[in-house]
Order: sequence, then structure tokens, then C-alpha cells
Amino acid sequence: MKDILKAPFLIEMADTAANMYRLGWDERNGGNISCLLDETEVGEYLDLGCVIREIPLGFDGAELAGRIFIVTGTGKYFKNVKADPETNLGIIRISKDGSKAELLWGYKDGGKFTSELPAHLMSHKARLSVDVDHKVVVHSHPTYTLAMNRVHVLEERAFTRSLWQTCSECIIVFPDGIGVLPWMVCGTNEIGEATAKQMLNHRLVIWGIHGIYGTGNSLDEAFGLIETVEKAAQLYMLTAHMPIINTIKDEELKALAETFGVNYRKDYLDV
Ligand code: 13P
Ligand code: ZN
Repeated sequence: MKDILKAPFLIEMADTAANMYRLGWDERNGGNISCLLDETEVGEYLDLGCVIREIPLGFDGAELAGRIFIVTGTGKYFKNVKADPETNLGIIRISKDGSKAELLWGYKDGGKFTSELPAHLMSHKARLSVDVDHKVVVHSHPTYTLAMNRVHVLEERAFTRSLWQTCSECIIVFPDGIGVLPWMVCGTNEIGEATAKQMLNHRLVIWGIHGIYGTGNSLDEAFGLIETVEKAAQLYMLTAHMPIINTIKDEELKALAETFGVNYRKDYLDV
């Protein structure tokens, strides 16, 4: 067996958590990450027949039965992941009947997966149904995105337009726009179901006055989506209280999207 601490998927996960902490997006235990892993790759590092313990999921994960994920632990601080991955992360396999997580590695102190696992797994399921290459769900509390939540209408078309108008890269990076949920109680199956519904049409979903979800085929993609939203939200908040005399007009957004060949939400533009 190879050394799991040297597995590229584990190192990338720890590096991402460290970056998110460094950027101030994930105070204390804020935020969580889950990545779908390839069984053959995990088998190079772990005996897949050896289950450390079983943890009830509390919702039906049957459609993801047998799938293996690396997931941040609940209550764990992102700043600590890199120094002690085995306590702060876990590798779980969804049981055949979809009712349990089989712990294959990690959560060394007796811990368990993030309280947001319902939203993560339901989002994985939704994204896989529209993109077979989907792998990653990232949840975070980025500062300017949350500040913008306090002053901007929480509606997906309006929110997306404000971000697209703020800097040129936005419509190219997230032409599918950003889904928006109202404030809801977090950690529940209900918010998971609402998130997954939005995930059928978007790779990004705002949880009103809480945070953001980004998804993708890699950690880079999911992280990059959130990073781009956060940059635009920062620009928005730095200028929202001043008279806005320049913006990117709808015809210009259309020209950008067409030049870069992205499949953008045409109904989000008035052209
Ligand atoms: P966990 O510590 O359970 O991952 O929760 C953090 C969080 O961001 C809740 O939304
Ligand atoms: Zn959160």
C-alpha cells in the first residue's frame, strides 16, 4: 500500500482548505469540502475491505451507493487540515443500502463528516445527472459575497446580472449564472434538497446570508468559481455606495459570451 498522506487527492484537499482559510473565507469551522474519488486510485492507498466504523447518514444516499468521497469533518477548523489531515478529514463510502457512510480512513478523534453532508451528497447527485465528469462540492463563507447578500436582492437573475456587470471575466467563468436560495436553516435535508434543485442548472448556489456552494470537475474549478464570484462581489461592495457611471452593458455581455463561445443564460440578458 502507498502512503495515503502522499495521495495527490489528499494533498490537494488540504491545500485547498488552507487557501480558503488564508483568504478569510472559512473562519473557525466554517465551510466544508467533498470530492468524489476514483475507487481504483483509493485502492492503491487503503484496503477497501476494511471499514473502521459505520456512521448513519440520516437521509437516503442510495443513488450514490458504493461511491467514495473525501469529506471535511464537522466542527473542524480549515486552518488545521493541512497539519493533521487524519483528524480533520475522512474518506467514506456510501453503503449498499444508502443509509450509512462506511469510514475507510480519517476522523481519527471519533469525529464524523460535515453537518452539510445532505447538501453535498444531494448536490453531487444533481451535478452527476447533468455532467458525468462532476467531482467536487465546496461550501464556503466568503466575506464580500456575504456582504453583498445583505444589500442586494436575493434573486438569481438579478444577483447574476450584478456580478456579470462588475467585471468582464464573470460571464465567461459562470455563464450558467448563480442560483440563489433564501435564508434557510442549514445542516438539514430541506436545504440539501433546495440546493440540489438549483444545482441542476447552476454550478454555483448562494445560501442567503450564509455562504456559497461551488461545484466542478476538479477542486480548481469549484474553487475558481467561488473565487471569481468573491472578486466580483468585492468590486460590487467597494463601489455600491458610489454613483456608478460605467458598467458592462447587456449587448457587451452578449458579445463577450459569443466571442468566448460560452453557453450563457440568454434569459438573464435584456437583448
Ligand atoms: P461543519 O463544521 O459541520 O462542516 O459546518 C460548517 C458550516 O459551514 C455549516 O454550514
Ligand atoms: Zn456554512
